[in-house]
Amino acid sequence: MKVKEAYDKWSESYDSTGNKTRDLEKKVARKILSNYEFDNVIELGCGTGKNTGWLAERSKSVKAIDFSSEMLKIAGAKLNLPNVEFMLADISQKWNIENGFADLIVCSLTLEHISNLNFIFSEGYRTLKENGKFYVCELHPFKQYGGTKANFSLDGNKIELETYTHHFSDYVNAALKNGFTLSEVGEWFDEKDDQSPPRLISFIFKK
Ligand SMILES: C[S@@+](CC[C@H](N)C(=O)[O-])C[C@H]1O[C@@H](n2cnc3c(N)ncnc32)[C@H](O)[C@@H]1O
Repeated sequence: MKVKEAYDKWSESYDSTGNKTRDLEKKVARKILSNYEFDNVIELGCGTGKNTGWLAERSKSVKAIDFSSEMLKIAGAKLNLPNVEFMLADISQKWNIENGFADLIVCSLTLEHISNLNFIFSEGYRTLKENGKFYVCELHPFKQYGGTKANFSLDGNKIELETYTHHFSDYVNAALKNGFTLSEVGEWFDEKDDQSPPRLISFIFKK
């Protein structure tokens, strides 16, 4: 099953089934991004809007992009906000956003489905203002090495999505190559379990 089709099918249960990765990232995004101020935001892979409303409350405008029409439908039904523009688009193709639009780009749990990180950071650099920040939070590569992939249950079957393993160096080198500097790295563990591999890795890159 292609990634887009899988998310179309997952959309109905995405918010309602247990998902430690989703829940931890929600906390991490709020913890990190509360330290920053931003007016115009681009959210890559907004899904059902877990972070979109929170971003919209703190900014003038959010362009929330996703290529799954079903995920967007749920986000749109939950969040009828005048300062959010939902965009149905594939982020691995040129973004329909003007140069220097944003002060913040947010990308949560999406880059594991993108093979070419270089393109994402190149478009990120183009669409950010000088001094703009790019927040990335993904399943930690250590988890990926252990075989963990985005997955959901459909009619009693476990569906694993197509993913790419991105090493720590892949994120950092793709960002540096496109002109970013690295401001922050975080590694995030399941509650009361800092002896197992971390679940998430986060970055703040600065233009
Ligand atoms: C695991 S969900 C994360 C959603 C949300 N960011 C969150 O943290 O709950 C990944 C999202 O990325 C979207 N996605 C994956 N590949 C994409 C692509 N190439 N272009 C646009 N959206 C994509 C999927 O449709 C899905 O909604």
